[in-house]
Amino acid sequence: MSRSKSLRAVEGILNLSKVILQALAGLILILTGTAGYSGAVTSGNEFDQDGSPLVALTFDDGPHATLTPRLLDILAKEDTPATFYVVGKMVSESPEVAQRIVDEGHEIGNHSWTHPDLRKLSDEKINKELANTAKAIEKHTGSQPYSTRPPYGGLNARVAKAIPREYQPVVLWTVDPKDWQKPGIQKIVERVVGEAKPGSILLLHDIHEESVEAVPKIIGELRNKGFKFVTVSQILTTKHTVDLE
Ligand code: NI
Repeated sequence: MSRSKSLRAVEGILNLSKVILQALAGLILILTGTAGYSGAVTSGNEFDQDGSPLVALTFDDGPHATLTPRLLDILAKEDTPATFYVVGKMVSESPEVAQRIVDEGHEIGNHSWTHPDLRKLSDEKINKELANTAKAIEKHTGSQPYSTRPPYGGLNARVAKAIPREYQPVVLWTVDPKDWQKPGIQKIVERVVGEAKPGSILLLHDIHEESVEAVPKIIGELRNKGFKFVTVSQILTTKHTVDLE
């Protein structure tokens, strides 16, 4: 049985639309292919598919020769994954600690080589800071950084565009307890637990003793509230799905 003319006409239009859509998608790919995006992420998906509220613990500025191993012991004991935004220079100084981070199932992110404010650097220097760090991470851990966090959250449209696509996404945070001001363990715990919401990305630093010591309480109290800990890549990519009958 041959198909009717009108049906073929509809198919023709549909095929033409498909071609146009594909051409548009191609054009968008070309436009965004080499340059970076001009934005940054500050939070992720709120819930996983079981309905558990998610949070991502992140630690910046390490790896520290003694504090980061202590933190890794705590995270292992609590069976909690975290994301470490490491400084390339620190990775080259404590490569075995960087290796431990990856071996123990945590995620590594790029936090530049020398921790400068990227807004004060040329595009070329920004690239160098990130490329050297990515190389060191890969050399010492065999793993590639999933995302980039600019030091101090120092970001503007030019910097965001200068960050090559391979180092995206650029990830900031939702909750900043200002632990680097050393307000005391209890204050750090209160601020993080008080401000955490589903989808939050929590900022801490594994180069300060107080911050590391606050971690067991932060994990315990957030778990009591029902939160589930995931890495940055997980909180950004977790799909909220529904069961179909
Ligand atoms: Ni930092």
